[in-house]
Amino acid sequence: MKIVMLGAPGAGKGTQAKMIAAEFGIPHISTGDIFRANIKEGTELGKKASEYMERGLLVPDELTLQLIMDRFTKDDCANGYVLDGFPRTIAQAEALTESLKKAGEALDYAIDVDVPDSAIVKRMGGRRACLSCGGTYHVTFNPPKKEGICDLCGGKLSIRKDDEPETVQKRLDVYHAQTQPLIDYYSEQGILRTVDGTQDVGEVFQSIQEILNA
Ligand code: AP5
Repeated sequence: MKIVMLGAPGAGKGTQAKMIAAEFGIPHISTGDIFRANIKEGTELGKKASEYMERGLLVPDELTLQLIMDRFTKDDCANGYVLDGFPRTIAQAEALTESLKKAGEALDYAIDVDVPDSAIVKRMGGRRACLSCGGTYHVTFNPPKKEGICDLCGGKLSIRKDDEPETVQKRLDVYHAQTQPLIDYYSEQGILRTVDGTQDVGEVFQSIQEILNA
């Protein structure tokens, strides 16, 4: 099963992608997590990416494609994958379609987690993330068992740099300008499915399971 998660920053793509990956035994591939790991390790790619990420801008397509395109050829992708945060521009989506086509493959679903901007701004203020394993929590809606500590790896939870309110607004503007057009792109391919992302985490996952198990 090859799935792309769509939705605004903070819509819950990462939360749902991790649940899908666990349920279907496929890898969760998040470009945001890969960039953050590179920033943490101080790689050249990380240094370049952080210049854009901290301002709420997209990392240029060229850098992103360089990073991601051979990831799909790894052994763990043999039964598919769930992509979170990629593609994010029409150019990235076209590169993905082309590369899959060359391998005689295609995506199965593009799932849009639909949440209005007003709800996103409220959510982002409460997000806490584990920089060690990528675990994501919310102080109210999805709290860790022990405050400030990741349930999955015991790492320390922190506030992401790009979750400051002004950066969140910038990310939403960038989403509407550059990523939202992917909804039409995948709708035209007949693989778009939309779920109401304002429901609680379990209900959103149930809606997604109904789509994937149909
Ligand atoms: P990335 O890490 O992909 O961030 P994003 O798309 O902005 O998405 P988020 O991770 O912020 O949110 P999410 O939708 O995954 O929500 P989450 O599940 O965490 O990208 C970061 C940056 O990297 C980009 O800005 C860009 O610079 C760069 N980048 C990455 N990919 C790129 C690409 N392909 N091209 C170019 N640049 C790229 O949930 C959010 C919060 O809400 C959490 O606290 C969660 O617990 C809570 N929550 C989740 N679901 C619910 C619910 N149903 N109800 C209540 N709370 C909920």
